[in-house]
This record gives sequence, structure tokens and C-alpha cells, in this order.
Amino acid sequence: MTTSILLCPVCKESLQANESNKSLSCENNHSFDRARQGYLNLLLAHKKNSKNPGDSQEMVIARQAFLNSDFYRPISDSLNQIIVDAALKIQALKSEKAIQVLDIGCGEGYYSQRIHHSLSDHQIEHNLFGLDISKDAVIAAAKRAKAEAALVSKSVESEWLVASAIDIPLQAHSIDIATCLFTRLMPDSYHKVIKQDGYFICVNTGEKHLIELREKLYDEITKTEFDPVKNMGEDFELIDHQQVSYQNTLSSQQQIQDLLLMTPHNWRTKADKKEALTSLEELTVTIDAQIHVFKAKEKAIVEVEVVEEVLETVSSSNPWGKSKVAAEPAALVEAVSEVAAEAAVEAPAETQTVAPQETSTEVAPQSKAASSASPWGGTKVVATEETSTKAETPAESKEKSNPWSNS
Ligand SMILES: C[S@@+](CC[C@H](N)C(=O)[O-])C[C@H]1O[C@@H](n2cnc3c(N)ncnc32)[C@H](O)[C@@H]1O
Repeated sequence: MTTSILLCPVCKESLQANESNKSLSCENNHSFDRARQGYLNLLLAHKKNSKNPGDSQEMVIARQAFLNSDFYRPISDSLNQIIVDAALKIQALKSEKAIQVLDIGCGEGYYSQRIHHSLSDHQIEHNLFGLDISKDAVIAAAKRAKAEAALVSKSVESEWLVASAIDIPLQAHSIDIATCLFTRLMPDSYHKVIKQDGYFICVNTGEKHLIELREKLYDEITKTEFDPVKNMGEDFELIDHQQVSYQNTLSSQQQIQDLLLMTPHNWRTKADKKEALTSLEELTVTIDAQIHVFKAKEKAIVEVEVVEEVLETVSSSNPWGKSKVAAEPAALVEAVSEVAAEAAVEAPAETQTVAPQETSTEVAPQSKAASSASPWGGTKVVATEETSTKAETPAESKEKSNPWSNS
């Protein structure tokens, strides 16, 4: 048995791998088989609100083709440099050698795998976890890792998880560095798994990102006003900000279509605008990525005081009563988050049965309103790609302001 920081999604006990590492189980005998491609599906069927949440297979294929062309490599290189610097600082301070790295919303794994290579090139011992709610994305990431490991005759040194960022199946405060590229921010959920003084690095699109493409797709361009600093809230402190800005030329119709397909511009754009793009064989675009580096702080004490008020507000709908809640500090924090949240989502795992992973009796995952049954069910979710996906119709002529949309 190998010890791990993975948690059982059903009962939250530690998950341990069996000797062959082909399955993992917890002390309550909830068991999870590793898929043929090497990934673990820890997303319970009743935690999904659609059969295939997250990016579709078509989007994953387009994203992989596009990213493999290294069009966005400068973003990845800048991110890797930040991660290596952070990892060296962490290593200098801690006694255990391996650094725990988590890529949240890892997609098909281009950036995660490059993080892994970069840390390995600097001889930084680490464990890499890639997490995404899209099974197709995680399959692609696991396959990528396996193929690259085979090339250098090494075993795969990363763990690929189908799971929701709302309920990350990793031990509390076990992660040294977490990244989140072009994916929704869920600060409360991230704070739970990142160590105190651990790093959280997010990458989002800046105002000029793909402006030339967007001008072709929309009658009117809306200014992006998303501010990750505001959205990460009190529990994270901004320590660095970098902008990666350059121009590059999309050099084939296929590349233009891949880029379109991997972004919500695809469903947001009118058919005639998309049609106009099909005559292009090249297009020079601006890349404008914003990298924000945060450190996780200790939870602000002020929240504990606020909790008293929250308790009054929610006690009527609290199935455990006030005394149970008072004994659960983590739950208190969640309650605060939910009250303050812009969007509250997903109910907690309350079942004792592991729903078969491939079945799809789907119940609410990410963009569902908070369950009224439990006041502790919500997690703060901000500015999302998928939230807006659900809210918008395909035939928009005016570009919506969404900082994650243009990746
Ligand atoms: C725009 S893509 C970015 C993928 C990758 N970070 C990249 O930059 O190539 C957003 C990713 O977030 C995933 N995602 C959306 N909601 C999620 C959630 N609640 N939990 C985990 N992943 C989620 C999607 O499936 C998709 O792969």
C-alpha cells in the first residue's frame, strides 16, 4: 500500500492504492479502479448535472491540436519560471523533499505536463496532480503523460483525476503550488487544499487577448473587467503579477478553426461571422495573458465572528442544529462563503454508496444553485467560462465580457 494525499470522494477518508496500483480504496471499503489510460475517476455520478460535464471531446481535441503547435508556449514558459522559483523557495524551507503541485481544470494536460518537465529539468522532486471535471480532457491528459513517459522509458509520475474543483478530493492543506489556467476561480475550495503560505497561480485572458479574432466575430467588443485579485478574496494575498503579451500568426484554416472550437466564441458567434472566417488562411493575433501569483493566508479570524451572525440566519434550515455546526470550523467557513457567494453551487457528498463511475444518474455539479437541503452545501464560485456557457445563446452579435472565454 502506498500512502497518498487522495481522499475518498464518498467519505473523505484517505485513499490508498493496492499493490498493483490498479485500484484505490479507503478504510470504509469504497473502491475506485484506475482506468486503462491511467487516470482515476473520483467524480461521483450524483455530483454531475450532465452526462459529460466540462469540455466536450470535440473541444478537447481542438485544444490539444492547437496547444501542441506551441502557439501559447510563452505563457507556459513564464508560468513554469514562476513555479520553479516558488518550488525552490518552498524546498529551502521544508524538510520533506517532494513538492505537491496541482493543476486545477488541467484540460488535456499541455500546461500540466510542461510544468512537470520544467520541475524535472530543475531536479525538483514533485508529485503532479491534474484535475478536470471533463472525462475526455483527463483521458487526453493521461494519454499524453503516458506517451511522454514511454518516450523516456520512465513510469508516469503524475496523477490525473476526473473530479470537480468545487470538491477537490485531496487532503486539506496538502498542496504546495496550485495552478488554474483559463478556468473558473473557486477560492474557498482552493484554500482548503493549499498549504498555508502555499502558492496559487492563475492565468486569465487580458483585455487585448485575441482582439483581432474577436473583432472579426463580434459587432461590438466589450471591455473585460474581471479582477482575479478581488475574486480571490481575503484568504489569498497577491505577491506578483506578470503580463505575457505578444503577437503570433495563425497559419492555416485548421489552426483558426481549432482556436475557435476550443473557446466559447464558437457557440457565441453568429453563423455568418463564423462563415466569414472560413475564407482565411492566416490571421495574426495578439496574445495577452495575465498571470497572478497569490499566497494562501491563514483564514481570516474575522470570519469566525461573522459566523455567529450566519448561524442565526441559517439555523432554521440546519439539519444538525447549532451545536453540531459549532463543532465543525470548516463547515462554518463554508457557511460564510455561501452567504457571501456570487453563485453557490453543489451539495456535499452525503451518500455512503459509491455510484458506479460510468453510470449517469446525474445530479447537480458545478453551476447548480445551492441545495436548499443543506446550508453547508455551497462553495463560492466566480467568473466562469461554464457559468456563462449555460446562460448564453449561440447567436450573440455582441461579445460578452468574460475573462476566461478567449483562451
Ligand atoms: C478553458 S479550459 C482550460 C483548460 C486548461 N487549463 C488549458 O488552459 O488548456 C477550462 C477547463 O476547465 C474544466 N472545468 C470546468 N469546470 C470545472 C470544474 N467545476 N472542475 C474542474 N474542472 C472544470 C473544463 O472541463 C476545461 O477543461
